Amino acid sequence: MIRAEQISAIAQSLEAEVIAIRRHIHQNPELSFQEYQTAAYVAEQLQSFGIKTVQTIAETGIVAIIEGKNPNSKTIALRADLDALPIQELTGVAYQSQHAGKMHACGHDVHTACLLGAAKILNETRLEWEGTVKLIFQPGEEKLPGGASILIQEKVLELPQVDAIIGQHVMPFLPVGTVGFRSGLYMASSDELYIEIIGKGGHGAMPHLCLDPVPVAAQIITALQQVVSRKNNPLVPSVLTIGKVIANGATNVIPDSVKLEGTFRTFDETWRAKAHQEIEQTCQQIANAFGQEAIVNIVKGYPFLNNNPELTQRAKNAAIAYLGAEHVVDLDAWMASEDFAYYSQLIPATFYRLGTANQEKGIVHGVHNPQFNVDEAALKIGSGLMAWLAIQELEA
Ligand code: NI
Repeated sequence: MIRAEQISAIAQSLEAEVIAIRRHIHQNPELSFQEYQTAAYVAEQLQSFGIKTVQTIAETGIVAIIEGKNPNSKTIALRADLDALPIQELTGVAYQSQHAGKMHACGHDVHTACLLGAAKILNETRLEWEGTVKLIFQPGEEKLPGGASILIQEKVLELPQVDAIIGQHVMPFLPVGTVGFRSGLYMASSDELYIEIIGKGGHGAMPHLCLDPVPVAAQIITALQQVVSRKNNPLVPSVLTIGKVIANGATNVIPDSVKLEGTFRTFDETWRAKAHQEIEQTCQQIANAFGQEAIVNIVKGYPFLNNNPELTQRAKNAAIAYLGAEHVVDLDAWMASEDFAYYSQLIPATFYRLGTANQEKGIVHGVHNPQFNVDEAALKIGSGLMAWLAIQELEA
């Protein structure tokens, strides 16, 4: 059986190559569902490693298969995402984005490079482990409906049937050299709220001749907080944020309508559905009380992400064997969302975090920030660990 030191030594020998891959992808970011060049580059790399089964899926995704000994025994999927964000990069690094207004500001360049590194390691060692590894390079993580949901429809978890899936994401608040795991509920479902309160505008000095939607909108914003604080079981984390309010009147003009936009996030599907009803009713009834109307549109986003406890425990133990216990931490759940959640609703899944921060080098910015960058020492850890976790899970 292959040992952690062997994988780690191969990852070390591939470090410069994986960093070069990451920089190439970083310089050439593409937005969600437009990852044509990135997908072509990934396929080219996989083929250059000698991997035979490399297929396009959902136009801008790539799926590859590496068979070890006894390939029908078990299949583990490793997933990376390919897309960048509509952000103008401000890092000033030599390899910064060549595409104005587009940037790999969520580390998906790192995920892709690490998975390519893992692919090379797995392919080189395939006579030393049992089972099959499916490599999923997924488009459109950042944009609804999420590349994961489309790939699932296109049967990415079948042929061969995937027994478990592992995803890796950078974590700018964890020091480089460290990884984090979380068993059970990890990330929230996320839905977008679009509310329009329709009144009747007019002169600001004559509200009695208007139906002023502004104070109604103010009451709705306040009342919606009670959906979360009074209607929800307090043991289920939930958050409702209104982040955009447009009342486009003037100092002396009452507008015809007010638009509100926000997000609702939680960790329970039953409550999620009920909350949608509560939000709609609260808006309509408050508007109706003042002779106005509310139009509520809730766009469902990703479901909550549940890390399978047994798989996560095994992966964490394998990470401890690979990196040492002092470099493996437990993560808190948080209310951000991630489309990897779709996989976790169907099969045992675990989504873990790769530390990329380095205070001394000033690498401290969060994801989705124009200054976001990673300590590239994370790349050899991310590529070696992904390969190691797949092999360990195949042999579990
Ligand atoms: Ni991301």
